[in-house]
Amino acid sequence: MDEPLNVIVTGGNRGVGRAVAAEAVRRGHRVTIMARRAAEGRAVAREIGAGLVVGDLSNLRTARAAAGEIAAVAPAVDAIVHNAALWPSRRVLNEDGFEESFFANHLAPFLLNHLLERQLRRVVQVSAGLYVMGRVDPERTPAGDDFSATKTYANTKLANLMMVPLFAERWKEAGVTIDAVHPGVLRTGLGERRGFQGLLLRTVKRTLKSAEAAAEPVADLLTGEGTGRYFNVRKQRPLRPVARDPELARRVWDDAAKAVDVA
Ligand SMILES: NC(=O)c1ccc[n+]([C@@H]2O[C@H](COP(=O)([O-])OP(=O)(O)OC[C@H]3O[C@@H](n4cnc5c(N)ncnc54)[C@H](OP(=O)(O)O)[C@@H]3O)[C@@H](O)[C@H]2O)c1
Repeated sequence: MDEPLNVIVTGGNRGVGRAVAAEAVRRGHRVTIMARRAAEGRAVAREIGAGLVVGDLSNLRTARAAAGEIAAVAPAVDAIVHNAALWPSRRVLNEDGFEESFFANHLAPFLLNHLLERQLRRVVQVSAGLYVMGRVDPERTPAGDDFSATKTYANTKLANLMMVPLFAERWKEAGVTIDAVHPGVLRTGLGERRGFQGLLLRTVKRTLKSAEAAAEPVADLLTGEGTGRYFNVRKQRPLRPVARDPELARRVWDDAAKAVDVA
């Protein structure tokens, strides 16, 4: 059994997050899931033997409050799994004027990493292999001016992934580590929608592995010792050129820092 760690899993109420949280509990860690809806979160937490923080990563106000909740329950966070994310089917702006998935998938983990960095030891960023299809346009992506029901998810996951090497660099001295992992293509609620497209998606998903397939490879990274790495499920892979544009990455970082108001 691994040495017990204080582990936070965002979006731990279902899908990949729930599977990873349950696996971390099985490994003897003290796990807290973050969920948006208290009653559902409580039920899942009880079922898998985890603690709960109620937190919503939809906008600056609620994401800051969520970071406060984490800090209150876990003064030392040995590992946080940034798992919560969404695949939007239409352009929706949050109360700060950001496209909702740009905020939840990219700005929210960016903000949490900054607000919690004094108490963090390790970050596992759940990424997506689809980042290779992404394009980040600093002028248009934040407010979804380039919104596409098929591409925006990839754009936001790319923006998020581009930050991983920069956080690794920032935290080198402090010894905080961060790795990213694509959990596999899995049967979860990701991208669920109504109508014909939804039906098609649900049909395709029937052929996919369940979220539990991600539990071990992602949980293995809780105790990983490297930093700045990207894993395709279990295999470490170099980032594709689209995620390795230093000038764009710096711009995306600076814009994010301004957007969430951190130094
Ligand atoms: N499934 C795949 O094939 C696949 C492939 C590659 C990468 N991934 C990645 O795996 C991770 C988990 O996705 P999943 O497949 O498990 O999807 P899912 O079943 O849709 O679960 C998404 C989770 O994120 C939470 N979430 C979404 N928006 C949030 C917000 N604004 N604030 C707080 N929580 C929020 C959801 O909470 P609610 O229940 O409250 O909505 C839910 O717990 C994501 O990072 C995704 O990009 C998944």
